[in-house]
Amino acid sequence: MTSLSKKNIVLGVTGGIAAYKAVELASKLKKMGAAVHVIMTKGATSFVTERLFQEITGQAVVSDMWAKTEFHVEHIALAKLADLMIIAPATANILAKVSAGIADDMLTTTILATKAPIFYVPAMNTNMYENPVTQNNLDQLRKYGAHIIEPDSGYLACGVEGKGRFPTTDRIIAEISSFLKKGQTLTGRKILVTAGGTREALDPVRFLGNRSTGRMGYAIAAEAARRGADVYLVSGISELPCPDNVRRVFVESALQMREAVLREFDDADVVIKAAAVADYRPKMVAQQKIKKQEGELCLTLVRNPDILKELGERKKQQILMGFAAETENVENYAQDKMHRKNLDFIVANDVSAKDAGFGTDSNRIILFERTGGRTKYPLMEKEALAKCILDKIEMALEKRGNV
Ligand code: PMT
Repeated sequence: MTSLSKKNIVLGVTGGIAAYKAVELASKLKKMGAAVHVIMTKGATSFVTERLFQEITGQAVVSDMWAKTEFHVEHIALAKLADLMIIAPATANILAKVSAGIADDMLTTTILATKAPIFYVPAMNTNMYENPVTQNNLDQLRKYGAHIIEPDSGYLACGVEGKGRFPTTDRIIAEISSFLKKGQTLTGRKILVTAGGTREALDPVRFLGNRSTGRMGYAIAAEAARRGADVYLVSGISELPCPDNVRRVFVESALQMREAVLREFDDADVVIKAAAVADYRPKMVAQQKIKKQEGELCLTLVRNPDILKELGERKKQQILMGFAAETENVENYAQDKMHRKNLDFIVANDVSAKDAGFGTDSNRIILFERTGGRTKYPLMEKEALAKCILDKIEMALEKRGNV
């Protein structure tokens, strides 16, 4: 897997002689696992055809802002989709337009509409490049947060020697890869996450379950993968899609979850157990659907293994984090679980609140550390909490001299 795997790269090609080199760039980006979406200016289509980029990238190429395509309001769709934009080659003209905020074609409107990082690869005649107007425009774009990949020096197509050559595609890729790798703070770490609720069968059609949707655990798995970790998600019942770059295995019962977790435990660096696991299961699972009968029906339940407790007994290098969903005495019960199960962290959830815990988009937690720390977070989206939780995990790995 590369830092470009599954990334949506919007490649803006403008009307310079080096436009043909953007074909090689598109091809290499695709080989590295990126989805490459090309936007061409009218000038670029005088040098290279749309068809060529289409064949190379396997994606529709856009050049006409008013043409009907698969995307609805195209410049917004591509601007939103982009993980990163590269304008290569970037002519003096495009640099002048975007630094002035002009948006009069598909590429300039997409640039103005995106929040993704933007890399410009200026390539032009040396005098045009060195002209103070162009240099001012580049400085202006840097101030707006854009990244400029400096051109090479050498013999230019216009017959002069000097700065302004399109850099090698390898250098462009090295610069954007190193940018994408920043923030990959968990690269090389194996993180095991559990999420969702378990189901304990009563008969072929009925079960005992709970209200967990998996949102909290999936948000953690997604964030850990974004930070470069090798993420294994053991998922109970959940309808959520698998986050990018996460290996997911589905389980149903607590016993199945135990088996799946133990399989991945030994070489894990971190285990985060956000799943809501049934403490009990029916002693007998009826082979046929249980029929109605007069009077009461008694179910005998037996204890499920406490997976987290078992991990606490076996742990070596692993950092263990549990979740505790409580309706009363939240802080005491949670800390008690942390000590009993030999955990490094426990996340306490007050699930009596309507806006936190099971099935909500938000959560309100207190994070306890075995070493004595206590951090209370206000009501936040589960995605934002996942970031806070992983920041704590990173600190713990760092303290152990593990990062
Ligand atoms: O999925 P969502 O809808 O987003 O909801 C999120 C959540 C509320 C389910 C989640 O944030 C949460 O709090 N999960 C823990 C639920 C719980 O009640 O845990 P517990 O107190 O029963 O167990 C404590 C810890 O031991 C948990 O980490 C649990 O995964 C683990 N455990 C519990 C029982 C068991 N047999 N084996 C276990 O490993």
